[in-house]
Amino acid sequence: MNLTDRPRRLRTDGVRPLVSETSLNATDLMAPVFVDATTDERVPIESMPGHERVPVDEAVARVEEVRETGVRAVMLFGIPESKDPEGTRAWAEDGVVQEATRRISRETDVYVATDVCLCEYTDHGHCGVLEPGAHEDAHLTVDNDATLDLIARTARSHAAAGADMVAPSGMMDGMVGVIRGELDASSHEDVAIMSYAAKYESAFYGPFRDAADGAPAFGDRRHYQMDPANAREAVREVRLDVEQGADVLMVKPALAYLDVVHRVREEFDHPVAAYNVSGEYAMLHAAAEKGWLSLEETALESLLSIKRAGADLLLTYFAEDVADHL
Ligand code: PBG
Repeated sequence: MNLTDRPRRLRTDGVRPLVSETSLNATDLMAPVFVDATTDERVPIESMPGHERVPVDEAVARVEEVRETGVRAVMLFGIPESKDPEGTRAWAEDGVVQEATRRISRETDVYVATDVCLCEYTDHGHCGVLEPGAHEDAHLTVDNDATLDLIARTARSHAAAGADMVAPSGMMDGMVGVIRGELDASSHEDVAIMSYAAKYESAFYGPFRDAADGAPAFGDRRHYQMDPANAREAVREVRLDVEQGADVLMVKPALAYLDVVHRVREEFDHPVAAYNVSGEYAMLHAAAEKGWLSLEETALESLLSIKRAGADLLLTYFAEDVADHL
């Protein structure tokens, strides 16, 4: 054999780490945390083994558990005590996320991001206020422009409670711009915006909707979240958010959309985030439970691959488990 190029020379244990192109660190990870105003004790989330909804009184303790694994950032999701058509508990000063944020930012050194969306707060489960007649007519859903003001108020209330970063996830046109304007006008210029810029209408969110009780009561989200068929459109969506002042650009879900992560990485200079969503977590757990694959190895490989595709930070339910092994 006359082979001059033998890639295998660089696969020995000694040299592999030296030539490794991608590495995963606990500091790349952000852990989702669910705070629930309807309970006084921790409630396990069945479809996401190892995760639970915690009452406000346990929020600090929960975040400290995350911190102990080496993960230094959390994303807070709230389950309010009551819901209504507008989602008014989303921007309440004494709302579940606001209260948890206040305590966590006062009592820990963890970086606090908050999910800004109305779907957990509206009684119909959509990500904004409905157009008149939406219940009867499948062509109608969320009124984009009427929703913007409510999202901006929500983001401002999170910032006032001490959030370091707000993360609008409702896929309303113009959401980043109104939030930036509202934050700047209320002296929160230093609060960052991580936009769920390219968020797809995905069946991989199933377990989350159990966890956060945010499934739409009728219809689906295809009139505002993106069509899984489209990648060029993601670039356009991301560009709009960049123009409106987004600091970090998120692609969601992650594993089935690595081409999109890669494209966003190539086209923009901003940090790119990827959300390794609930369904991606649940499917590895389900297979591991059957003994069909190794949870630890597939979780690590998944996260490493999302980074390799171009993500800088990873929002993942595996954060604590993986950080523990790094
Ligand atoms: C709220 C929101 C959702 C997720 C994050 N924020 C649900 C949805 O859009 O239906 C999904 C997260 C996950 O599946 O892990 N808009």
